[in-house]
Amino acid sequence: MALSKHINADRLVQDSHDKKSKHHKLTGIDSNTIQHSYGARYGTQPLPKYHFSSKGIDAESAYQLIHDELALDGSPVLNLASFVHTWMPAQADKLMQENMTKNLIDTDEYPATQHIHTRCISILADLWHAPSAKQAIGTATTGSSEAIQLGGLAMKRIWQEKRKAAGKSIHEPGPNIVMGANAQVALEKFARYFEVECRLVPISVESKYRLDPKKAMEYVDENTIGVFVILGSTYTGHYEPVKEMSDLLDEYEAKTGYSVPIHVDGASGGFFAPFATPQLEWDFKLPRVVSINTSGHKFGLAYVGVGWVVWRDQAHLPKDLIFELHYLGSVEYSFSLNFSRPAAPIIAQYFNLIHLGFEGYRNVALDDLRNARLLSRALEKSGYYAVLSDIHRKHTSAGATIKDVVGIDDDVTDYEAGLPVVSFRFSDDFKKSYPEIQQKWIQTLLRARGWIVPNYELAPDLQQIEILRVVVRENMTEVLVDRLVSDLMEITEQLTTADSPLHALNDLGHGHSSSSKTEHTHGKLGKGEGSTSSGTYAKQC
Ligand SMILES: Cc1ncc(COP(=O)(O)O)c(C=O)c1O
Repeated sequence: MALSKHINADRLVQDSHDKKSKHHKLTGIDSNTIQHSYGARYGTQPLPKYHFSSKGIDAESAYQLIHDELALDGSPVLNLASFVHTWMPAQADKLMQENMTKNLIDTDEYPATQHIHTRCISILADLWHAPSAKQAIGTATTGSSEAIQLGGLAMKRIWQEKRKAAGKSIHEPGPNIVMGANAQVALEKFARYFEVECRLVPISVESKYRLDPKKAMEYVDENTIGVFVILGSTYTGHYEPVKEMSDLLDEYEAKTGYSVPIHVDGASGGFFAPFATPQLEWDFKLPRVVSINTSGHKFGLAYVGVGWVVWRDQAHLPKDLIFELHYLGSVEYSFSLNFSRPAAPIIAQYFNLIHLGFEGYRNVALDDLRNARLLSRALEKSGYYAVLSDIHRKHTSAGATIKDVVGIDDDVTDYEAGLPVVSFRFSDDFKKSYPEIQQKWIQTLLRARGWIVPNYELAPDLQQIEILRVVVRENMTEVLVDRLVSDLMEITEQLTTADSPLHALNDLGHGHSSSSKTEHTHGKLGKGEGSTSSGTYAKQC
């Protein structure tokens, strides 16, 4: 009923309270209060929602109130929208709890933590084939976003130094950076925050919804500080062709004398490709790759709050970006955007490195891919859906092998390399038969069953295509894949029944959110108050 759109829920609840005017005068509490629901057991004072209460409440009540409110959140296990890992063994939980109070920046106070941090960097530099694990330099970050800002800044500073040394202007024209239009918001943020022109290369079906290196070369010139190459794309999980990009930039350098470096955004792939497809060429083995970032909290299998950036050698991290700190008990070096940061996620990362080892990470990666293939095939076989990701497709070169004949089909090298991501949409046949059914309804209906599966548009120039996307993480087991497929099929078939009440979903609009409109107006920007969208992944965040 359209009338409900005009109702202010906060006001409605306020007006329905007992003795509202008396409370109002005595306590000064306005309409924005939370009433405890535990009555006499935990106290009955209302709490202001948007300003400090003059008096606090006891810890047990505070815990219970917050705990219960958070029950409205989705389940992290069923959050198939996110790349972020949501489970670790009990021993990792214990280590994190024990080290929750440690600040990574206090290097003198917590030297053992610092040794672990340094060891993690050496292990990653070695995994990514840095020319010398001793020469490589890097740091933990809060995630890939911070790591990308640092990688981009180093490239910008090196470009500036080279221009100055050649007696050229660094302002007219200014620097630019090249990336696919499928770039995640972190990459575009770097360009905007650090005043580098962002050159987005349009994507196409032929380029597999990701950077096309040949087209990218049309955007490169002497003021290009670098190319961001993504392993793999947030939309479809496709790896961008780092080697091909590197070869083309080699040719460009031979022709023009301009050396354009590559920073690999391995937010997910940095912790996946080395284990699943170690033969893939994408890392420091390619001399043009000067820095790599990854999220420890994605396929690094740690909890949220840890990322990494590693430079191939010290020459690629300008000294100018490194700060000497003299006031924490010794001389320390810092090259990060944050100062304080929790040490616990880094300790959890190290736990994984030594607990899982190469074989453990590889087993998890192969399982993820197996489950992603299972989901992809089931969707395609249904006829309702077409799958855009390719990790379930065999290389054209793989052909029919003896393994096909005897039924063994899980040799990962036979398949297209990529992240365990399943991107799918309604098949053309389905759309022709049921043009009135909107794909976004699937997101809403799955959410009603607990699943969080986003539906969104692809990047420019393919924004007319909407995709649903599932990230198959470690806890997306075969049992859950099975359940998801059966829920998806049931929902899709219900929608095809012409008199189904589900058609009323059209009136529900796009998003599914349990937060009230009034909550959004406090301390948050409203729709249209941010910058104009460039149409990339930035739009969905
Ligand atoms: C390709 C890519 N780059 C960067 C990021 C940002 O990573 P983080 O959330 O660790 O900051 C993401 C997150 O999904 C991503 O997919």
